[in-house]
Amino acid sequence: MPSGAFSPRLLGMSKDLIEAAHAVSLKAHAPYSKFHVGAAIRGASGAIYAGCNVENVAYPEGTCAEAGAIAAMCAAGEYEIAEVAVIAGSDQPVPPCGGCRQKLSEFAKPDVIVTMATHAGARAETTVGDLLPGAFDASFLDMDT
Ligand code: THU
Repeated sequence: MPSGAFSPRLLGMSKDLIEAAHAVSLKAHAPYSKFHVGAAIRGASGAIYAGCNVENVAYPEGTCAEAGAIAAMCAAGEYEIAEVAVIAGSDQPVPPCGGCRQKLSEFAKPDVIVTMATHAGARAETTVGDLLPGAFDASFLDMDT
């Protein structure tokens, strides 16, 4: 499970990211799960990109908050994640789902910090590498055939 909750970092550089994630979580379209998630990514440029979960009546067509934030980052022409924050109205900080761990890994080095937060103020911290050990990455595509 995530470690490092309440680390001093959280008082500093993650605050704006958590605030952005919180603001966008209020825009979530989640009429089926009622679980409103917001994600915010700081790109290597320092710019912040936000996304919320967007559900669909055909349930598998819904998208996660992290996917929305990544799409916003790419649409702005950025492809390097420097930091991530995710927030939900749950009792405990919610870690990104499996698919989102792979999506984050596409653009983030393993040491990139992921802060997980709740609306009530709980915080936990992990890294992209800890969320997805043994990740499938582009090196596996370098095959000798
Ligand atoms: N959800 C996210 O947006 N991100 C995650 O990492 C976990 C799950 C959303 C998907 C769905 O709309 C709702 O939360 C319940 O699973």
